[in-house]
Amino acid sequence: MWDTLLVNVNLATMDATQPAPYGAVRDAALAITDGRIDWLGPVSDLPDAPEELAREVIEFGGQWATPGLIDCHTHLVFGGNRAAEFEQRLQGVSYEEIARAGGGIISTVKATRAASKEQLYEAALPRLRALQNEGVTTVEIKSGYGLDTTSEIKMLEVARALGRVEDMRVITTLLGAHALPPEYRDSREKYIDLVCKEMIPTAAEQGLADAVDAFCENIAFTTGETERVFEAAAVHHLPVKLHAEQLSDSGGSELAARYNALSVDHLEYLSEEGIRAIADSGTVAVLLPGAFYFLKETKLPPVQGLRDAGVPVAIASDCNPGSSPVTSPLLMLNMACTLFGLTPEEALTGMTRNAARALGLDDKVGTLVKGKAADIALWDISHPAELSYWVGHNPLTGLLKDGHEITPCNTA
Ligand code: NIG
Ligand code: FE
Repeated sequence: MWDTLLVNVNLATMDATQPAPYGAVRDAALAITDGRIDWLGPVSDLPDAPEELAREVIEFGGQWATPGLIDCHTHLVFGGNRAAEFEQRLQGVSYEEIARAGGGIISTVKATRAASKEQLYEAALPRLRALQNEGVTTVEIKSGYGLDTTSEIKMLEVARALGRVEDMRVITTLLGAHALPPEYRDSREKYIDLVCKEMIPTAAEQGLADAVDAFCENIAFTTGETERVFEAAAVHHLPVKLHAEQLSDSGGSELAARYNALSVDHLEYLSEEGIRAIADSGTVAVLLPGAFYFLKETKLPPVQGLRDAGVPVAIASDCNPGSSPVTSPLLMLNMACTLFGLTPEEALTGMTRNAARALGLDDKVGTLVKGKAADIALWDISHPAELSYWVGHNPLTGLLKDGHEITPCNTA
């Protein structure tokens, strides 16, 4: 006996081994036991009547099921917000100018350091709920607004706590090398020492980080500094990711490829050499249309080059107070298509199968296949392209994580 059997459902499995677009299986059934997918296929292939096969049978009346969405790049734990900088930018001051004048990331650092764990948790919760409300079951959350060991650890603890309480799979990433804190203005090397010798070891020992990230950019850290961070991550057996080629081509992607990075993220300025390097290392290219849009960036990431090279592309919200105050994964699917020229199928692959790979979770989530977690989003749509099509309309009707029904506010 299976625990649960979903019947009369169209599955967008996103499984690359299924021949149809979206890995679609129509008029299907999907069985769940112990929180995992145990069987799926056409209803007509079921060996017996549904009631004979499962303790609970749920009829879906021809709705679509996709893997629970995966937002593989967020900074959703932070203090305060930067609406005042948004106003400045609308007056013509650039993101880089604001950062160089001590605003930008550093202004969020001040607010985050001043906030208690409880305050950070309470501020992050509605953002997490908003993602869940549009079908997200897995989210990555970065630190990077603490920039001292205590505050970075505080952020990671809040991220872990969100994962424990809120029925969301949370993956945490230590981003100590996000910006140079003002107290280290004249001693960059000492700050990198702190990241490598204190932050990474502490986060690793306490099991608080699943990966290590850095911001390789002219307003942040050089490739040399980034490499030191990657070396320290390797010592502690933590995989790496990189904010790379967002505002200029710093060669960060080539470096990340040498360290077998799980992903490189942003990539508007990615070069041909960078594409070749990440294609060879199997690194996922994470595109962040929210930041592109919000910073009014005009240089497009090299989508066709990534396609030609066979690089897996993921899409994420980059939810953060400075460059992407975005909590809508569905809007990101739309923008991936309208701004970056992805097809709706590529966009959805980017928030399911490829996003799982960007987090090193491809054996657990990201596609509807036997053996993976039953993380499933149900949608009142007649074709999966609708997930990239609507703007501001949310067709989510149900959400399961590990086979358990969770109630996002949209469906309550
Ligand atoms: O992903 N690029 C660097 N970090 C963030 C922005 C952080 C901020 O402005 O607060 C990003 O865009
Ligand atoms: Fe980011």
